[in-house]
Amino acid sequence: MKLTDSPREMMDFGSDNEAPVRPVIMSAIVAENCGTVLSYGEDATTAALRPAFEELFGTDLEVMPVSTGTAANAISLSQVMPPHGATLCHHYAHIRTHECGAPEFFTGGKLIAVGGDNGKLDPAELRAVLKSNEKTRYHSNRASALSLSQATECGTVYTPDEISALAKVAHEHGLVVHLDGARLANAVAHLRCSPASITWQAGVDILSFGSSKNGTLNAEAIISFGSHRWFDDVKYRLKQTGHLLSKTRYLSAQLLAYINSGLWLEWAREANALATLMAEGLEKHEDIRLAFPVQANVVLVEMPQALADHLHKSGARFYPWAESPGCFRLVMSNSTDEKQVQTFLRLARAG
Ligand SMILES: Cc1ncc(COP(=O)(O)O)c(C=O)c1O
Repeated sequence: MKLTDSPREMMDFGSDNEAPVRPVIMSAIVAENCGTVLSYGEDATTAALRPAFEELFGTDLEVMPVSTGTAANAISLSQVMPPHGATLCHHYAHIRTHECGAPEFFTGGKLIAVGGDNGKLDPAELRAVLKSNEKTRYHSNRASALSLSQATECGTVYTPDEISALAKVAHEHGLVVHLDGARLANAVAHLRCSPASITWQAGVDILSFGSSKNGTLNAEAIISFGSHRWFDDVKYRLKQTGHLLSKTRYLSAQLLAYINSGLWLEWAREANALATLMAEGLEKHEDIRLAFPVQANVVLVEMPQALADHLHKSGARFYPWAESPGCFRLVMSNSTDEKQVQTFLRLARAG
């Protein structure tokens, strides 16, 4: 079933954040909505998250639900980045470009941008930045964490080997490896791999597990693999920053339904397939160029402003990509269907 019911939403490629919640998730919230339970995550539904996520990832872990991806990123990084520390991330990283400085705000630490093609960090560049950071010693912030996004902001996906190579460099220099998995499901769907192979098995220590962009209402999770030292007082940080929900059980109910149903992978596959369809169609257009390989549910294209204007006027919703002039971002979600993509392609051809 597609979750669109008004013409206004018929060609909405604005963001997967704009899509509605999957009915099965809404049902889980409704099912959770009975009786009184302990607050602030002391309830049985929240306790059930750990075994459920341990099964999904095939390892021992700690998990704490939060209601936004920004909170997951900023709070987990704040636990491992001291005020004099730094997190290294890609130029395009969401934590650097679209989170209002949240990771820096929490501790006063700094983000250091590193380059790499297609939104993916380059291990050689990472090594060079780390070497220069060590040379300047206490005159610059000490590198404390590496943050990768999977899938990336460019709609590309790191392979398990690519993550391992970056994590190896980071660990050699004493950094903690964080993964922004706002679109982890899309990456797993693309790679046809296990969630383990692109997280802890590849050297990821902390994961911001996303689900809101793939069908839940507002449920993300901070996950700690391996040593949980940094995780011990995460609840204090959540409470201090107003992110410890008294009714955490409703977040937990969403996450349990999301992973236990197994539907998360199917939903991500559907969105990815529509992105591929869109990309293949747009690639044939003589005035349109794909800016990056399309491997998840995000399609970034360069196209003339006049063509973008024509598409907007024809009812399509999508945004310019702030990182690069002339580039536009189309996102497939659970409210996209094949008909909408075909209509968009037809309009583009006529433009
Ligand atoms: C890659 C990535 N990380 C993190 C986030 C932050 O999620 P939220 O908007 O829930 O704070 C987003 C949101 O669009 C994102 O695209």
